[in-house]
Amino acid sequence: MSSSEPTKQRSRDSLGNVIVVALGVSIVCSILVSTAATVLKPRQEANEERFRQTIVLNVANLYEPGADVGSLFEQIETRIVDLETGDYVDMDEPAAFDPVVASRDPAQSIAIPPSEDIAGIKRRSNLAPVYVVRTPTGAVEQVILPVYGKGLWSTLYGFLALEPDGNTVRGLQFYEHAETPGLGDGIDKPAWRAQWPGKQLTDAAGEPRIEVVRGMAAPDSPHQVDGLSGATLTGRGVMNLVRYWTGAEGFGPYLERIREEAENNG
Ligand SMILES: Cc1cc2nc3c(=O)[nH]c(=O)nc-3n(C[C@H](O)[C@H](O)[C@H](O)COP(=O)(O)O)c2cc1C
Repeated sequence: MSSSEPTKQRSRDSLGNVIVVALGVSIVCSILVSTAATVLKPRQEANEERFRQTIVLNVANLYEPGADVGSLFEQIETRIVDLETGDYVDMDEPAAFDPVVASRDPAQSIAIPPSEDIAGIKRRSNLAPVYVVRTPTGAVEQVILPVYGKGLWSTLYGFLALEPDGNTVRGLQFYEHAETPGLGDGIDKPAWRAQWPGKQLTDAAGEPRIEVVRGMAAPDSPHQVDGLSGATLTGRGVMNLVRYWTGAEGFGPYLERIREEAENNG
């Protein structure tokens, strides 16, 4: 009996046993991890959707603290736009369309020539979502556009709300970037954001004039916003991405359509 003990010990520690146990543990762990990922995915997606809705409501000035975000968002129409023509395109689940993901697929996007790539994004998707708020009579009250482009250290992702003239800013809010806290993240500060409502994107001739200046904006300027102290480059990134997305290569054709609709209604 006593002579069999060392033999048993050896067989438990054998290379075969170690491999079997290691394999077993890794299989169980990978099953647990993939089950957790699958089970949590719908909740993660719902959270992302809620977050996006909250930001859109916020920039549209329709957010009410404590109110149900999903119910508030029902007053906003999510549509998909063909950026080249400015026309609406039918899509089964417009809310699920991600223009940044689509911009990485050559079949769904175009390369932006470097001379036109002022937002520094290299490619843009052919389609993009827009969020439309209407008056009770059905006229466009405001449109909210997803906008993004390079800051100094990171890509800045946000939403720009415009009046039905397609030219007057109602609000600009970023929801994701990695600019420096205390410097570039000044783009999130309420005082800086408060300068945007009322600014005109272009002049009467349609030339882009919106500008984040270095230093202080000229008093009563319809186009200028103060620069961010110590963060000139982040501010310039904001200016360029707003100019790109509201220009002819971005939502320009769509904004033209909205403008015509407003003129016909008015
Ligand atoms: C640690 C560090 C972080 C910085 N972060 C930013 C930033 O987030 N955005 C920015 O525009 N400039 C940032 N800068 C400053 C730029 O490097 C650059 O000097 C500046 O934008 C130049 O313009 P200004 O000083 O007139 O604003 C940072 C500099 C340092 C040293």
